[in-house]
Amino acid sequence: MKVGVVETPGVLKLTEREIPKIKNADDVLVKIKRVGICGSDIHILHGKNPFAVYPRVWGHEFVGEVVETGAGVKSVKKGDRIVVEPIMYCGDCYACRQGRGNVCLNLKVFGVHVDGGCAEYVVVPEANAHILPDGLSWDEAALIEPFTIGAQACYRGNVQKGDYVLVMGAGAIGLTVASLAKLYGAIVIVSDLVDDKLAYAKSRGADYVINSGKENLVDRLNEITGGTGPNVTIDAVCIKKTFEDAVLITSTAGRVVELSFSEIPSDIAPVNIIKKEITICGSRLQTKRFPVVIDFIKKGQLPLSGFVSKVYPITQMAEAFEYTEKNNATVRKVLISFD
Ligand SMILES: NC(=O)c1ccc[n+]([C@@H]2O[C@H](COP(=O)([O-])OP(=O)(O)OC[C@H]3O[C@@H](n4cnc5c(N)ncnc54)[C@H](O)[C@@H]3O)[C@@H](O)[C@H]2O)c1
Ligand SMILES: [Zn+2]
Ligand SMILES: [Zn+2]
Repeated sequence: MKVGVVETPGVLKLTEREIPKIKNADDVLVKIKRVGICGSDIHILHGKNPFAVYPRVWGHEFVGEVVETGAGVKSVKKGDRIVVEPIMYCGDCYACRQGRGNVCLNLKVFGVHVDGGCAEYVVVPEANAHILPDGLSWDEAALIEPFTIGAQACYRGNVQKGDYVLVMGAGAIGLTVASLAKLYGAIVIVSDLVDDKLAYAKSRGADYVINSGKENLVDRLNEITGGTGPNVTIDAVCIKKTFEDAVLITSTAGRVVELSFSEIPSDIAPVNIIKKEITICGSRLQTKRFPVVIDFIKKGQLPLSGFVSKVYPITQMAEAFEYTEKNNATVRKVLISFD
């Protein structure tokens, strides 16, 4: 079967491997249909993901059809269309006991710590398989995982109905955050430097958009929020300055949610945290968000149209990466198809 491998940082190859076999009673063999290219896959390609081990079959956003199940599998059967939850955790460590397997001490993520979804067939544990809503296309289904990241960020920021929520960045991740914040009843403000990205965010239901390259972010936020600042600020730009700004502009008793994997420190004075008693938290991957996102999709509440920018056949994997990297100003999600 064909697999897409990052051999070492900078070297992406399409290669042949044996089809994997079911080993454990709870294993499920999946024939992959789509895998999405994420910013973090590009980081892995360039050796910028501190958790990745090489060589690595990339891909953590993948969907497909169940073709075989282990003897003990009960929740899915041959022919089911599924999305794979890409994290595996021990269940015993402190984080797991707190219900936060996404930060398990022994965390394994498909496509990062173990081989991922850019393969014609992948074996996954039954617990990682979520059945797709009827009628959802494979392209749409591949968006479920990115939307779980948005759901997690809102959960971590305790987004409440009526909260002013600022989402910094209208890239793929910022858009998923904005969509989920809207579904939780927030008044959603999105900032970015690219007008087209902001226009798309608006078309998906953002209440306000701010081009922070052209307008003064603080002035506009004061106008919109009546001077309080956003109650929740979620950083999906992920640079030093956005983290610093987030702490400064968030309202009293507000929350700042950081999504960045950056190792570059930000300059944040403690007084700016304590005087408003701001809660700053990280949001990493997701925990228990797949059913939440799938439920919103089932109810027809989560718009998915227009989100996929382009779909490449697996034979053009290298072109797909190149296109994604060269068109950051316009690309939302690029998918690889195994059809
Ligand atoms: N914590 C997690 O679980 C998690 C998961 C996935 C991705 N991420 C991280 O989220 C980040 C965003 O991912 P993405 O795929 O959306 O990236 P992206 O590059 O598509 O989006 C970033 C957006 O920020 C905008 N931008 C750049 N500088 C800006 C500025 N100064 N002010 C306002 N907007 C600005 C860009 O125009 C772009 O639209 C990445 O750093 C990624 O590593 C985190
Ligand atoms: Zn991703
Ligand atoms: Zn654990």
